[in-house]
Parts: sequence; C-alpha cells; structure tokens
Amino acid sequence: MVLRLLSVTSELYPIIKTGGLADVAGALPAALEKAGVDTTTLVPGHPAVIDALSGAVPLHHYNALMGGQATLLRGSAAGLDVIVLDAPHLFDRPGNPYLGPDGRDWPDNALRYGAFARAAADLAGGRVAGFDVDVVQLHDWQAGLAAAYLHYDPPARRPGVVATIHNLAFQGIFPAYLLGSLGLPAEAFSLDGVEYHGSISFLKAGLIFADRITTVSPTYAAEIMEEDAGMGLDGLLAGRADIVSGILNGIDTDVWNPAEDPALAAPFSAATLSARGANKAALQRDLGLDIDPRAFLIGSVGRLTEQKGMDLLLALLPELVGHGAQLALLGSGDRDLEAALRTLAQTHPGRIGCHIGYDEGLAHRIEAGADIFLMPSRFEPCGLTQMYALRYGAVPVVARVGGLADTVIDAGPYALAQRVATGFQFAPGSLGSTRAALMRAMAMHRDAPDAWARLQRNGMATDCSWTTPARQYAALFRSISPSSLA
Ligand code: ADP
Ligand code: GLC
Repeated sequence: MVLRLLSVTSELYPIIKTGGLADVAGALPAALEKAGVDTTTLVPGHPAVIDALSGAVPLHHYNALMGGQATLLRGSAAGLDVIVLDAPHLFDRPGNPYLGPDGRDWPDNALRYGAFARAAADLAGGRVAGFDVDVVQLHDWQAGLAAAYLHYDPPARRPGVVATIHNLAFQGIFPAYLLGSLGLPAEAFSLDGVEYHGSISFLKAGLIFADRITTVSPTYAAEIMEEDAGMGLDGLLAGRADIVSGILNGIDTDVWNPAEDPALAAPFSAATLSARGANKAALQRDLGLDIDPRAFLIGSVGRLTEQKGMDLLLALLPELVGHGAQLALLGSGDRDLEAALRTLAQTHPGRIGCHIGYDEGLAHRIEAGADIFLMPSRFEPCGLTQMYALRYGAVPVVARVGGLADTVIDAGPYALAQRVATGFQFAPGSLGSTRAALMRAMAMHRDAPDAWARLQRNGMATDCSWTTPARQYAALFRSISPSSLA
C-alpha cells in the first residue's frame, strides 16, 4: 500500500534555497515514490514559491492566522506536489527566507514559522477537507512546532510524526511571552513541553513530541547525544536514544551529473577524466587565477560560518600558496570572513580566487574543475558538497566529523592497498591535522598520478544516490503509520 507523507520544509530546491535542506527536500520525493511513498510538500508562500506554482487550487482559508488572512494552495512546483501557505503578511518578502535586508532575523519569525507549523498540523491532522496523510516529516526548527500543535490540540486521527534534524545549531528560540500568540496553552511552557531555558524552542517541540527523530548521518546521530555536539539538547536526545536514528543524505544525481551538466565548459565522466583539464582551465580563467594545469587547485563552496571552519583554511592559505596551491572559493556569510578572503585574494593575485555571493552554476564549475574539495567543518550533520565532489572527481579533503566521516574513505595505507580510498580526512578543528592532510593530498597529486586517478574514479563510482536512504525512510515511515499500527 502506498504511504502518504506530508514533508514540511522551509526550503525547496530550486525555488527557495539557503543550503542543503533545499536540496534534500527537492530530491527526496522522487526517490521516495519508488519506495512506495507519495509525498506532498508544504512550503511557505515566498514570492518565488508563488511564482513557481502552477495549477493551484485553494484548499483551505484562514480568516486569521497569526495576524492576517491566509490560504493553503495546492498545485505543482518544481515537478512536485506542493501545498503553499499563502500568507502575504508573513511571507510576501523578497530575498533570504529568514533574514531581513539588514541581515538580521525577521523580528516576527516566531509568528511566521508558528503559522507555518499550525498549517502543517492542520493538514497532517486531517483538519483540511480533501487532504489526508499517514505520516508528517518536520524538517528542522521551522516545522518543529507542528508536533506541539498535534499534541496539545489532538486531531481525531493523529499521523505518525518524524522530526528530522538537519542542523542542531539553529533551534528557533523565541521569548516566552509569545506562547499565547502562538496559540499554545500555558501547560505547554514546561520541561516536558516547549520550554527551553526560559524561552520557547521550536526545535525542542519537534524533538519532544515526535514518534521518531532522524538526522542526516549516522555519525551525527551519535555525536548529538554527547555534550560536545549536542548544542544543549544532548540530554533530551540521549533520553530518547531509542527513537533517534541517522539516515545519510543522498544527492540528486540528475542535477549533479558531470556527463550532462550544462553549467560545465566540458562535461565528462570517469572514462573521460582528462576532460576535467578543460574545466580546470575555465575555472582558473573565470576566477582570475593563473592558468596552470599543474597547480594544486583547492575548491570550496559553502556558507562562511563558524560551522564550516573557513578560518582554518584562512590560517593555512599563505603557506599553501607558498607550496604552489591555488584556491577557488565561492561563499557568503560572516562579514569578517568575507572581508578577510577578499583581502587575501588581493594580496595573492593569480593564486587565490574568491567569489563572495551565491551562484549555483559556479558551484558546479568548482566541483568540476578543482583538484580537491576542502571541508574543514567543525561539525557537519551530513554535508552534500563533498558528495557532489565525489561525483565530479574533485577529491574531498574533509574533517572527520558527522556526515563527512560517513561519506569519505581516507587514503590511509589499508584503504589504498584495498583500492577503496576516495579522499582524505583530518581531525576537526585542528590546524596541524588539516595541514597534514592537505600535504598528503598535495604530495599524491604531484607524485602519484595513477593513485590520484584511482581516488577520483573510486569517488565517481560511489553510490551517493537517494535509492538506499529513501528505502530507509520508507521503512521508518511505515513503522509509525497509523494504518500499520492499527
Ligand atoms: P549546508 O546545508 O550546511 O549549507 P550542505 O553541504 O548540505 O551544507 O549544502 C549546501 C548546498 O548549498 C549545496 O548545494 C551547495 O552547493 C550550496 N551552496 C552553498 N553556498 C553556496 C553559494 N555561495 N553559491 C551556490 N551554492 C551554494
Ligand atoms: C544542514 C547541514 C548539512 C546537511 C544539510 C542537509 O544544513 O548543515 O550538513 O547536509 O542540512 O541535510
């Protein structure tokens, strides 16, 4: 029997994206379908979402939802069956979904994602005529409060509830006085409710009231039950360890297919690896780097935040450039890091190329042209870019943490002898270990081209698709579907 899923997500590739959540929400439904799960995706009605929606029919109208009128519209967008919460007073704003033009969180984010979660709970609980599901999957804090609504205002038929953690660093913490505005009862403000150190936590609501908690890699699932990575929620998670599991993300192998990628100067496959040379030269030219086939070209794409450990790269850069390396970097985020990168690019012309901003095509071209893809993350729930790197023949050099530990096989002696290595790992947060891994990679790239090509081919042959993870999700959803429990 087909299982019906409501996936509740604040981001959806290619319509609205700040990071990997969008990629996951956009690609998982097609894989789930093959595993017998029919997905409807609920997204907030940002202008880009409304523009992308076709064949929309109104499903439900709210006369008053957190301070304004709202409508649930069902239609299709990006090839998916979607329901959009059209609430202009909350979502008709340009740019980044979470931040205003001043770069700060929108001041009404609690009400915005409270409304979103309320709509999710109404849909999942069968309170919207013509809509019914077996399981609801709540992605990150933006969807978390739906689990509390389903708990304090129980519907006749409660669906199975899964809370999926993509990043524990973002928890949706808001002042306690908003409890009433969010439509939650006073009793919800307690240790076994939404209260968190005197505030309201949307993520905690999801974790407390879900039937299953998943996160996006097995190693991160284990890490977040410990103080170092638990971000204050390790106690809660360890207490619910029997329902916590890690399901590794997959990647969209159509969007990320080097053989048919329209963004590339020269599409290629494992059989035509030498064509990467043309992509490397094009990338060097685009970023103002010296066009040099032998330079050790380090690629990096991502949010410039504490999480991603870019300060470690900054500290090592002058030394790496001294050894003949180049850097091709795409990212945005922390203003100080952006400024430091711009300065380094100016002081090392031809060796350091930075594009500060957001550019989907350039992200593909860096994966296709760089020799290695560096991820010095301090923590990494899964990470998708190292899997894009595997698929594009850029050898990943990554911190041994979270999903990076689970997806890259270090080129140590045993893995090399067994011919299974795909990259290099180092201890997270350690400058010495990062340097050592980069030196190992640089030496192999320079001195052992055959071994290097084997690393690339092993990476390109790795199955990073959604097939296996989708089966794991389907089994988990079935285990908590009310019809399977009846
Ligand atoms: P996170 O979700 O923590 O940011 P992931 O590796 O899971 O990290 O996913 C990041 C996604 O966002 C990838 O698809 C990556 O290519 C993309 N991305 C990040 N920064 C940029 C950027 N500046 N320009 C284009 N794409 C970016
Ligand atoms: C988060 C994490 C990242 C993960 C992504 C998709 O943004 O930081 O590691 O890959 O979600 O699950």
